[in-house]
Amino acid sequence: MKNIGILLSGRGSNFEAIANNVGSGRIRDARIAVVISNTKDAAGIEIARRLGLKAVVIPSKGKEREEHDREVVSALQEHQVDLVCLAGYMRLLSPWFVQQFPRRILNIHPSLLPAFPGLGAQEQAFAYGVKVAGCTVHFVDEELDHGPIIVQQAIEVLDDDDEHTLADRILQREHIAYTEAINIVLQGKYKIVGRRLVTKITVR
Ligand code: GAR
Repeated sequence: MKNIGILLSGRGSNFEAIANNVGSGRIRDARIAVVISNTKDAAGIEIARRLGLKAVVIPSKGKEREEHDREVVSALQEHQVDLVCLAGYMRLLSPWFVQQFPRRILNIHPSLLPAFPGLGAQEQAFAYGVKVAGCTVHFVDEELDHGPIIVQQAIEVLDDDDEHTLADRILQREHIAYTEAINIVLQGKYKIVGRRLVTKITVR
């Protein structure tokens, strides 16, 4: 049984999808050990409490990045977290944080990386006029929205889309893609070659 730790800052719909999929067994052999928010009024923390999960607020406001990261890492270690899932966590992790969980931190981003990193990815993609948009789940490394890609899902941009309808359809895919990526990582049947995640094939 692996322990998942969730970090979030807001709405928490990706976290809720992960929690539902842990509950239904679509994510296997795992439990959510702790949900941590850096903002006290994140809706995601309310969801965690409602689901009876351990919910912790560690405010980041006014703190140095590494000072805050040390508190978060302590909480993750206290709950013996094996896999950290960033789910709308709107803070950059310090290199020190990333080094505490090598290849064990995942992030979801609402674009087909490396296109449109950073904030407002769906709006950036829409304004650019792309015909295909989507989401990416990737390992976190020291650079923003950058580590090896685990899963991507693409959708078509429709002529009558606006930023909101596009973001909504991307979000539906995010909820599916995150579970797929968590299963891949927890099952460990992959290797990383350069930047490429490839399935480990056992040669008999
Ligand atoms: C999601 O769309 C996620 O991909 C995005 O924030 C939203 C959080 O929604 N993350 C980023 O943009 C990270 N760079 P949620 O709180 O409902 O999961």
